[in-house]
Amino acid sequence: MTAQPETLRGDWGIPTKIRFGAGRIVELPEVCKELGIERPLLVTDPGLAPLPMIKQALAANEAAGLGTGLFCELRPNPISRNVEDGARVFREGGYDGVIAWGGGSGLDVGKSIAYLAHQNLPIRDLYGLGDAYLKTDAERVAPIVAVPTTSGTGSEVGRATVVVDEERLEKKILFHPKMMPSVVIGDPELTLGLPARLTAGTGMDALAHNLEAYCVPDFHPMAEGIAAEGIRLIKESLATAVSDGANIVARSHMMVAAMAGATSFQKGLGAIHSMSHPVGARLDTHHGETNGVVMPYVLIFNRAVIEEKLVRLAAYIGLADVSAQGFIDWVVALRKEIGTPHTLAELGVTEAHVEQMARDGAVDPAGEGNPIALDKANLSGLFVKAIEGDLSPA
Ligand SMILES: [Fe+2]
Repeated sequence: MTAQPETLRGDWGIPTKIRFGAGRIVELPEVCKELGIERPLLVTDPGLAPLPMIKQALAANEAAGLGTGLFCELRPNPISRNVEDGARVFREGGYDGVIAWGGGSGLDVGKSIAYLAHQNLPIRDLYGLGDAYLKTDAERVAPIVAVPTTSGTGSEVGRATVVVDEERLEKKILFHPKMMPSVVIGDPELTLGLPARLTAGTGMDALAHNLEAYCVPDFHPMAEGIAAEGIRLIKESLATAVSDGANIVARSHMMVAAMAGATSFQKGLGAIHSMSHPVGARLDTHHGETNGVVMPYVLIFNRAVIEEKLVRLAAYIGLADVSAQGFIDWVVALRKEIGTPHTLAELGVTEAHVEQMARDGAVDPAGEGNPIALDKANLSGLFVKAIEGDLSPA
């Protein structure tokens, strides 16, 4: 395929500073000091807050002269009030930086608090991926240290967060370039306690991010390279991380793969996410697991356009069958091995949901990067296939 020169353009940014390695959470006080943070607020979810890892981090900071507050009043799908409450705690406590700790909810609320605490603007004025952030004062965004405890969302390397608007009950995006954490401490030991099913679900989210980013037609060779390596690491390690949760090598690979996914998806996402968002919003299914369910149906749907790319990917990750079909077969086998359901019916989706979910999926911004333009009609067909478990050609 020969590209036209005018298509070889893009806006790229891959700058996050990451301190990666088992046991490196002990560097937290040093990282805070390096960023000039003297009084951090640690933001995490109520499930993690009582665990020894949090107590140890608070004690280590205290011993280093960094009196650290704790805020953990947030929901698994955080609501706007969680951010507003945390922002008030941040202001009233005189904090000067955020340690955003956790899976998606702790990371996203922590980043959002650092963003909004000193803006004097209501959160609803800042929703969206557009230019709403230009209304804010970038100098007032507090520095953020991100500490991921799952390997899926990749929010630790991202500039956006997701919160549920309480009035409209819709998921909203907050975006600011300075919500990119200043430093990520990627310590895979913090993921050792993640249960098998969550390891599988978050791992499929990481795979979906890398794979969809890789398949977006835009010109971004660096993101594609990162995504391909992310997928190779997942092939090496996801099944092991699920079956042997204490395996630090597998956990390390998965943590990097998750960051690779979120780094590469600045290029875009696709139909996997635009299908799983309405399913998750209506049936409260696990985001990553839902992505895993719909993944092969979407690959088959897009196959005519991404055939050549999938062949290259199959070769790069070392599949015996170097073909697009070989790659799709690998996805189906991986899903089976880690216990991801084969059909949306198993998640509770029925024919009665198709109309509404296809309509919602067609306007989901994530679908804009799909290699084939999405509309209500073709998404309806995809939903039906995913409900019935039909892997026949598109
Ligand atoms: Fe995702």
